[in-house]
Amino acid sequence: MTTVTFGQYCQEKMRLIEAALSQYIPSDTYPPIMYEAMRYSLFAGGKRLRPIMLMAAAEAVGGNGSDYLPVACGLEMIHTYSLIHDDLPAMDNDDYRRGKLTNHKVYGDGMAVLAGDGLLTVAFGTMLSQSKVEPLVLINVVKEIAAAAGPAGMVGGQAIDLISEGQIIDAKTLQYIHQAKTGALFKAALRSGASLAGGSQQQIDALTTYACQFGLAFQITDDILDVIGTQEKIGKPIGSDVKNHKVTYVTLHTLAGAKQLAQQAVDKACNSLLGFGPEANILRELVEHLINRET
Ligand code: IPE
Ligand code: IPE
Ligand code: MG
Ligand code: MG
Ligand code: MG
Repeated sequence: MTTVTFGQYCQEKMRLIEAALSQYIPSDTYPPIMYEAMRYSLFAGGKRLRPIMLMAAAEAVGGNGSDYLPVACGLEMIHTYSLIHDDLPAMDNDDYRRGKLTNHKVYGDGMAVLAGDGLLTVAFGTMLSQSKVEPLVLINVVKEIAAAAGPAGMVGGQAIDLISEGQIIDAKTLQYIHQAKTGALFKAALRSGASLAGGSQQQIDALTTYACQFGLAFQITDDILDVIGTQEKIGKPIGSDVKNHKVTYVTLHTLAGAKQLAQQAVDKACNSLLGFGPEANILRELVEHLINRET
């Protein structure tokens, strides 16, 4: 286990991720407008949680996180594409993201759709350039990420989220939406990191539980911040959910109820790490960070 603090760990991983992303999606490439639009959102200042968590999971099972930058960065590209599309007028119609104007506000709706498409496709090419892993292990990891990002995961959750606007939905449906639109990518991140680094089935199962609970708590917190956060800190408009008539954990369970449910999920996430030693401390600290986050 490393002796660096949590802050130093995240900073160091972010530095590696940003440098790698910049290599995978370089600026001086034709057609320049496409690369500019993709890089605009990619380097707007995201927290890089999914790639950091992939690396932390690899380290929790005894691997070296930075060996897996291609897969980690692919996840960040998929996540960033999902945000560009999520902000479009046809979806949440938001004007700010990561503290800057949204992609479509700068490049127009059409180019924003294409910037998202570009990130999604480059993501798969990048992930498949991963070395230091048995081909079959990599194929299974990429297959799982594809499933997590697609209609059986993130995109499916976004679809039910979209058609549920203005509707009355029950707690079970809302939990599905959150677990699919947000939890699925976290689950893929943790499981991929552990699989790439040769984790045992027992370790992968424990990290799966951790990731599902973390993802759920993360999106509940996102719903809470949409009500009590500040745009200055979260870098995106607050009140987006009310504007779009979304049922959220706050509208369905009240603010106090949503906080309680987030805490319950966080407790389950922590408990799932009981079989790990100090090598999982970063994952433990990430949970602490999540429940107190303002960004
Ligand atoms: C925002 O994700 C979208 C959700 C799934 C809630 P993040 O809060 O991780 O956004 P960035 O990457 O830091 O901008
Ligand atoms: C979207 O959820 C999650 C995605 C898969 C993009 P939200 O619509 O609540 O995310 P924010 O609040 O705009 O980041
Ligand atoms: Mg949305
Ligand atoms: Mg949104
Ligand atoms: Mg939100």
